Amino acid sequence: MVFRSLRRPLLAWLTALALLLFTPAPAWADFVLPPLPYALDALEPAIDATTMTIHHDRHHGAYVANLNSLIEANPTLAKLSLETLQGQISSFPVAVRNNAGGHWNHSQFWAVMAPAGEGGEPSADLLAAINGAFGSMETLHSQFNQAATGRFGSGWAWLIRKSDGNLAITSTANQDNPLMDLPGIEPGTPLLGLDVWEHAYYLQYQNRRPDYIKAWWSLVNWSEVNRRYAALS
Ligand SMILES: [Fe+2]
Repeated sequence: MVFRSLRRPLLAWLTALALLLFTPAPAWADFVLPPLPYALDALEPAIDATTMTIHHDRHHGAYVANLNSLIEANPTLAKLSLETLQGQISSFPVAVRNNAGGHWNHSQFWAVMAPAGEGGEPSADLLAAINGAFGSMETLHSQFNQAATGRFGSGWAWLIRKSDGNLAITSTANQDNPLMDLPGIEPGTPLLGLDVWEHAYYLQYQNRRPDYIKAWWSLVNWSEVNRRYAALS
C-alpha cells in the first residue's frame, strides 16, 4: 500500500532526473566568454584591474549573453562559427551585428595584449611588410594613432592585411570590424585591433584617449600579431 502511494511521485522524480541528464544543452549556450589569458591586474599600470574586470566580465560578457539570446530568433547563428558569422553579418538584424561584433572584437583584443615587456617584437616578415606599407614602424604608430584618436564616438582602430597581401590601417564604428560584409568598411583580416570605446579607458584616463593609446602600445602582444600574419602568408 505504501509502495503504491509512492510509486507515482517516484516515477515523476525519475522522469525529471532523466530529462535533466539526457536533454542536450540548449543552442543558446553556444557562444562563450573566453577567459582572459592573464591576470586582471597584469596590464597595470597601462590598464588598471578595475577597468579590465568591468570591460571583460560585464561589457564583453553582455555581448556574449545578448548574442546567445538572439539564437532562438536567428537559428542560423547556431551553425556558424563566430568568425564566419562576421563575413555574413549583412544578412542578420542589427542586434546580431552589434553583439557578434562585440564578441569577436573583444576576443581578439584580449589576445593581442600582454603584460608590458612580454609581448615580444614584430617578426622579420611582419617588419618587412610594415616597412613596405608604411615606410617605418614610427609611421605605422602615427597612422594607427591617428585612426584611433580620430574615430568619432565609439569604435576600433585596426591594422589589417588586405586580400592583395598589403597592410593597411583603418577604423570602424561601434562594434563593426573589417571582416564584416558591410558597405563603408575597408575589408581585411585584422592583425591588431584597439578598442577606443570609452568603457575601455574612461575610469583611468577620463577624456584623455590619446594617453590611453600611447600607454596601450606598451602592451601589444607582437607574438600574437606575428602568429596572425604568418597564418595568412
Ligand atoms: Fe570594449
